[in-house]
Amino acid sequence: MTAPRSDALVLFGATGDLAFKKIFPALQAMIRRGHLDMPVIGVGRSQWSLDQFKARAKESLEQHGGMDPAAYVKLCALLGYIDGDYGDPATFAKLRTALGGAQRPLYYLLIPPSVFATVVETLAKSGCVKGARVVLEKPFGRDLASAQALNRTLHAHFPEEAIFRIDHYLGKEPVQNLIYFRFANPLIEAGWNHRHVESVQITMAESFGVAGRGKFYEEAGAIRDVVQNHMLQVIACLAEECPASNNHEARRDERGRLLKAVRTLGPSDVVRGQFRGYRGEPGVASDSQVETFAAIRFHIDNERWNGVPFYVRVGKCLPVTATEVMVRFKRPPRPVLDETSKAPANYFRFRLSPEVVLALGTKFKKPGEPMVGEPIELVVCHQDPDEMGPYERLLGDAANGDGTLFGREDSVEAAWRIVDPVLGNTTPLIEYEPNTWGPAEADRIMAPEGGWHNPPAKEGCS
Ligand code: BG6
Repeated sequence: MTAPRSDALVLFGATGDLAFKKIFPALQAMIRRGHLDMPVIGVGRSQWSLDQFKARAKESLEQHGGMDPAAYVKLCALLGYIDGDYGDPATFAKLRTALGGAQRPLYYLLIPPSVFATVVETLAKSGCVKGARVVLEKPFGRDLASAQALNRTLHAHFPEEAIFRIDHYLGKEPVQNLIYFRFANPLIEAGWNHRHVESVQITMAESFGVAGRGKFYEEAGAIRDVVQNHMLQVIACLAEECPASNNHEARRDERGRLLKAVRTLGPSDVVRGQFRGYRGEPGVASDSQVETFAAIRFHIDNERWNGVPFYVRVGKCLPVTATEVMVRFKRPPRPVLDETSKAPANYFRFRLSPEVVLALGTKFKKPGEPMVGEPIELVVCHQDPDEMGPYERLLGDAANGDGTLFGREDSVEAAWRIVDPVLGNTTPLIEYEPNTWGPAEADRIMAPEGGWHNPPAKEGCS
């Protein structure tokens, strides 16, 4: 049965950074595809008028992807704006009026998690939750206890199927392809287990620092910002079992099951780093202990992955901006035809961004008489210029009541359980130079064979 479509979109935190960088461009893209025809009401605390809000939307489109004048005119016709405090019932009285006859509003909370509960409670007290759905930006809480408390608050007013916890990595096309590619190719699926895979690693490198988000980052740090959510979701897509169907609960069941099998981290699994200069960023404490880099070793305690390490490395101010997955396979049981070459064994390299690339590392025989080989990478670039961006995809899904690509209560809590013991200042913090691959200590958690794979700055896709 298809769920009824939402009939109004309300953006709490509409004057903030995320709306500016990601949401207005996503709304414009939806309009261009004919996927947005409901009122879009911004709620903010910036003391703006509707005209200022529209001007902000224009600036956002100009700076992030380009403005389509016809789509912008249509967007402006849908926009409304309410200024007010998130704990003030007067703001919500204005919202009720602005919603007019809307029966199924979609509330998108683009606000710090510390304000989620206040907004949800005030929406409920103001009679605004009937028939509504709510989308929550990450991070969902600060740790396991706060995520559980937030889930309790939400469930007091919304059923689970009306709650959409965003992790925009799940909305990325190449991340979804990780699941499809594995199960649609039986040849690959046959080797996707501890008998053949030696290790899996994911590097999410960013060449920029905290880019004006020092205050936010001080509250988060790399593990809360991108490991508890994005990286664990990528691990789930790489490691989960095949869902029984494309039904959204079946898909969420498998992600949840996998995350529940990931072992809780201990201090010896983690190396934290901070780039030199971070403490001088606006909004950052001069003695900050917050990590801007983390290298982590995960283990999955199930039959398929027994003994296979999953390494994750994330960091700001690294040499490149790129996210890559490297799945290394075990070597043949004995040297082929007595060959002594130490070339690496097979691997799959999935480049998730900025270019989308799938590469298979192989060994070919070198031309000539001797039976010796050389490494050859078979590369496919796979990107559609008209591809939906993750926010466009996820906003459309939430408006249609489709929770497939959103975190369910169990998986979000499982992800917090995994990282909970290593959050905050629980392990040493090591300074690293900007434009390097983080502290050398990151090698400590990596088996010597192969070492960390550093993604290239650019891939030769035309
Ligand atoms: C966000 C983090 O969730 O993801 C940022 O808060 C990070 O710190 C960003 O830069 C990366 O997203 P993407 O899609 O650019 O890889």
